[in-house]
Amino acid sequence: MPEANSRSNKIMPSILSADFANLQRDIEKVPGADALHVDVMDNHFVPNLTLGLPVVESIRKITDKFLDIHLMIDEPDVWAPGYAEAGVESVTFHLEAAKAPVRLAREIRAKGARVGMALKPATPIEPYAELLGEVDMILVMTVEPGFGGQKFLDLTLPKIARARELINKTGTDIWLQVDGGVSADTIARCADAGADAFVAGSAVFGVDDPDAMVASLRQTADSRTS
Ligand code: DX5
Ligand code: ZN
Repeated sequence: MPEANSRSNKIMPSILSADFANLQRDIEKVPGADALHVDVMDNHFVPNLTLGLPVVESIRKITDKFLDIHLMIDEPDVWAPGYAEAGVESVTFHLEAAKAPVRLAREIRAKGARVGMALKPATPIEPYAELLGEVDMILVMTVEPGFGGQKFLDLTLPKIARARELINKTGTDIWLQVDGGVSADTIARCADAGADAFVAGSAVFGVDDPDAMVASLRQTADSRTS
């Protein structure tokens, strides 16, 4: 297990589990969140369709919150830069879909956003170790991407730990994000493995008091890393 350190844990509710007809209302339910995680799906890279750039631009207008865009789309090389241009704080693309991840990462950063690289459960981190200097965040998917409300995959825990070791070796503060099935039951395991950015959709928006759940998830994560 990676040694405990002073990582600051970030809780990022996924609006995939919010009410799409009342996004502003639901976003205002989580004032304590560190970021809003926005899932963009194209029905090609994943078998589901959500929202695209026009909706992200509208969300940008109604909140100053850190917007963490998770692109589950084919051809991120073509589409990702436009999200950075919309003024979001972070754009994450999937390594399985990118044709030129280094060029794309540099382009996103040049447009002023942080950049994240995402890996599906079966994608190893090791082939990408040399790319860590190009990114601000690694996203280890803890379910197969495409839907909210799936069961957390424990088989991803060793990869989270290996990603944490690689990040620590760089000596930089690259965030290590987990996404999928993260809840009060599973967040401690993720924190123990080395994650410091936690996406939670159904666990947050599926309860009566989403902001209290954000606080509770943070407390649990902090209790494992301090
Ligand atoms: C799934 C998405 C997730 C999703 C997580 O592919 O990337 O962000 O919203 O939902 P939960 O937390 O319900 O698993
Ligand atoms: Zn996501």
